[in-house]
Formats: sequence, C-alpha cells, structure tokens
Amino acid sequence: MLSIQSVRSLARFIPWLASIAITAIYLFEINLGWAELDWRSTELLLKTFLAHLYDWILFAFFLFLSLLGIRDLIQSKHALLRNYPVIGHIRFLFENIRPEIRQYLIESDQDDVPFSRNSRVLVYQRSKNLADTQAFGSIENEYREGYQWINHSMAPVHHPSNDSLRITVGGSACSQPYSLSIFNISAMSFGALSANAIMALNKGAKLGGFAHDTGEGSVSPYHERYGGDLIWEIGTGYFGCRTDDGKFDPVKFAATAQRSQIKMIEIKLSQGAKPGHGGLLPGNKVTPEIALTRGIPVGKDCDSPAAHSAFNSPVGLMQFIAELRKLSGGKPVGFKLCVGNIQEWFSVIKAMLSTGIRPDFIVVDGSEGGTGAAPVEFTDHIGTPLREALQLVNASLVGAGLRDQIRIGASGKIISAFDILRVCALGADWANSARGFMFALGCIQSRSCNTDRCPTGVATQDPYRQHALDPMDKSVRVANFHRNTVSAVGAVLGAAGLSHTREVTSDHILQRGPMETVETLSLRMLKLPEGALLDDSGVALLEQYAPGLGARWLNATAASWH
Ligand SMILES: Cc1cc2nc3c(=O)[nH]c(=O)nc-3n(C[C@H](O)[C@H](O)[C@H](O)COP(=O)(O)O)c2cc1C
Repeated sequence: MLSIQSVRSLARFIPWLASIAITAIYLFEINLGWAELDWRSTELLLKTFLAHLYDWILFAFFLFLSLLGIRDLIQSKHALLRNYPVIGHIRFLFENIRPEIRQYLIESDQDDVPFSRNSRVLVYQRSKNLADTQAFGSIENEYREGYQWINHSMAPVHHPSNDSLRITVGGSACSQPYSLSIFNISAMSFGALSANAIMALNKGAKLGGFAHDTGEGSVSPYHERYGGDLIWEIGTGYFGCRTDDGKFDPVKFAATAQRSQIKMIEIKLSQGAKPGHGGLLPGNKVTPEIALTRGIPVGKDCDSPAAHSAFNSPVGLMQFIAELRKLSGGKPVGFKLCVGNIQEWFSVIKAMLSTGIRPDFIVVDGSEGGTGAAPVEFTDHIGTPLREALQLVNASLVGAGLRDQIRIGASGKIISAFDILRVCALGADWANSARGFMFALGCIQSRSCNTDRCPTGVATQDPYRQHALDPMDKSVRVANFHRNTVSAVGAVLGAAGLSHTREVTSDHILQRGPMETVETLSLRMLKLPEGALLDDSGVALLEQYAPGLGARWLNATAASWH
C-alpha cells in the first residue's frame, strides 16, 4: 500500500508523467496524418502537415516536455530538477524574469535598487528634453527622519547661466589650467562600456562643453573621434602608458598626455565600488581593439594589480604627480580615491606639506559608487560612503591650509541638481556622474554589465547588442541631460539667492533628525579652522569629532602609508 507521504512524494513527477502520457496518446490514438503522408510530392506533404498542424504542435510540445524530464533526471547539476523534473524549470524561469517583474510591477517609485524609478525617470526626461515638472505636489514624505531640503531666499536672484557654472582646475604649478563644468562624466572604460557608448558620451561632452573621464582602460579611438574634452585616468595597469611588463612608461605617457584633447590627468588610487581590489580582464575579452588601446597583447589575460608600482609611499605619490604634470606639459594632475584608512589619507596631506607638491584636484568617490563588475563584499561593505568621506577630505585640507590650492570633485549616486548642491555643501567644487550618464544613453538598470548581455548596448562588447545604440542620437541625449541638470542647479541656486555653487555651504542644507528635530548639515559636520592642523591645534577638534581621529593625524607620516 502506498502511504500518503509517498503519494505526495510521487506527485512531483505528475507534470512529466502527464507529458509522457499525452505524447503516447498523440502517437497511438490521435490521427496525425502519418498514413496520408505522401513523400513523393512536397505539395501534398505540406497539405497533410498543415491539415494536422494544431495536433503536431501539441505533440511536439509534449514530446519536448517528456524528453526534458528524462534529461532532468539523468543530469546531476541541479538537484531541484532531479527531484522535480519538468516543473522545476518554472523556478528558473521566474528567477530569470524576477528583476523585470520587480522593476516594472512591484518596485515603488522611491525604492533605491540602486537608483529609484524617480531618479531614472528624471534622467530620461532631461535627456529627451521632455518636461521634467511634477504635477500635484511632492510625493516625498517631508516628515521622515533624514529628509533634507535647501532653504530658498526672500531675495532670489536671476538664475546663473550654465556657462558661468564652471570652475578652474590647476594650481600655480600648472601651466595649462582647465575650465571645468560643475557636472561631468565619471570614469568608465572602453571595455566596460561599448564603443558606441563611448562615442555617444564623448560627442555629448563635445556638444555640451563638459569633460569625459576615460576610465582606466585608456584613450581609445572612440574617445577621440568627436574631440570632446577628456580626463585621462591612469590606473594600476598604466593602460596606454605601460611597458611590456606592466610598469609606467613615461615616454608613452607624454605622447598621449600632451594631445590637446586631454585636459587633465587623474591617477586612480581607488574607486568606491571596489576599493583596494585589482582586476583581471580575461584573455578572451582582450580583442585586438582593446589590446591596441591598452597597450597589451591580444588574447592574453590582463591583470590590473591592486596597488601602483610607480610609487610606494605618500611622498612617492606626490613625486609621481609632479612627474606627470611635467610630462603632460603642465596640465592639471590629481587623483581619485575612495576614503578608507584615515591615517593613510592624513599621510597624503603630510606628504603634500613636506614636499610642497600639491595635486591640482582630488576626486572623492563614495562607497555607493558603481562598477561593471566587483565582488559583493567590496560593493557592499568596503570603503567610506561619499558624504562622510567628502567632509573629511574637505575639512582636513582646510585644516592643512591647502584647500584653496586644490579642487575637489565628488561622485556617488549624483543625479539631480539637489544631489549636486548637497555635495557642494559638503565641500565639493564639482560633481561627476557615471550611472546618470548611462541612463542618458538608455541604460534600464538591468544590472547585467558583467554578463556581456546588456540589453541596451551600453555595457557590452557584443557587436550586435551595441549596434542598437545609435551614438548620434544618444550623444544629443547626453548633452541634454547635462544641460538640463546644470540649468536646474542654476534655478535652485537662484531661488536660494546664490549665483554659484561655490557659495553653497553646509548651512544652506537642512535635515530632519530623530524626534522631529531639524538641524543644518553643518551641525554634525567635521569643521576645522584654516591651518589648524599645521600647529596641531586642530587635533582636539578631530578627537572631539571622532575619538581616535586626532591620534591618527599625529601618527601619520609623509614617508610611509602606515
Ligand atoms: C560600468 C562602470 C565602469 C566604471 N569604470 C571605472 C573606471 O574605469 N575607473 C574608475 O575610476 N571608476 C570607474 N567606475 C566608477 C565611476 O566612475 C564612479 O566613480 C562611480 O560609479 C560613482 O558614480 P555613479 O554613482 O554616478 O555611478 C565605473 C562605473 C561603472 C558603472
């Protein structure tokens, strides 16, 4: 006798067994027209087949399910399919379409995954030049803890023009300073992005008069085709300026850095999505084009080490900056980092002070930043988030008396004018966006950059997929997104009675704290008087802000990281 338990256990085979039974019925009981098939005439053959088409389709379908069940039982990769032949595939089907179902049917307009629908729609509207207004009032809960706003003025001023919202980057050691827009395209390499995406970004930058960061994959022909201003990023792999064994090559560097399209040089120390993590481009992805751009052999694994080989101390970093500045013909040179060990950051400041060499700019990337591919521990749990990092970098440069000589850029989920103004209030001079500009290119946040199956042709090397992205059309969207966002910055500045982002301070932004309290951003921020770290009088303030921070300043040395 079969127990209830064993009947229940056998029930999982029902869909497969039913398929076999129906296939058998079709084979033996239903007339599929076998007998009428006349193989001598194609016309008659087709006629007989069409007369029984419906039955043939059902027969083929159930035959397929029967065979699928057999395959499920004999394979050993998926225990689920062995236990649930045929029906187990439903789980994989739903697993595949889960992101789409979530995105289109379940996700709320404000869920950050990682960008909310509201943020994405804002970019789509601005990049298509559609109205970006909202009807019927705010959908924000303005009484929730953490809600932030900027106060307007009773004496608003005329909106500053987009052309005026620029800053000059390049200190006294620089003979070719650059006039940079307050909003630019953050680093994304050719390799992570498709050739068509790179062309669209660069042409957009040209149309809108702003800068396009190459990412560490070097300057490709696609970056050069339309002549948009470039920030050349140099990572640990020294792509485009490396010797055969992967070390920095000054001659190759100078040849590219002196080209007029390159406006600034950025040494990549780390990025928020994977700080302290190198990378490996597998040989099968090293196409002749990528190999030529990066200066590496075709088809061979390409390693980006975790650390730089051109320097191994904070003083070494400063000397490298000075060398690059000289080799580039006096262009602004800076570095990008995600803040990690704070003592190391203080060591860098001490190296600036001891060598007298200053970077022209520092880009602070928050741990909330994006990437093409990174281990989940790195994206989720390593590195300092942007707002904390930015105020630390800004305050410590003020404390070291260096802030007026160095410009600060910020990146990390910056999409709207308010996002830009908030980072300015925290100490930035300008903002970069990577994924914002990907949305302008048509990215739908499918989060498949690491699969080479990007549905919109933005983050793939598949020639068919990237063909769908028209660089001409999308370059206009890139320029529109930039122009409309900077205009929105101007409009908010005007409403607040300000005429430039440099006038925004942490006192302009308010935040709802716990128990309905309201405070300005400045209240909880680290603030140091100008030069307070030079005579160590700021140490007590560091200590007051976070116990142990003052000791880190005192322990930091210019000669070594630790
Ligand atoms: C597809 C992709 C590729 C990236 N490649 C680089 C890179 O080559 N170098 C780098 O410094 N950062 C890289 N980043 C990080 C971005 O430049 C940026 O710092 C980070 O994503 C934060 O900006 P976002 O929030 O606007 O995307 C990449 C990001 C993405 C999404």
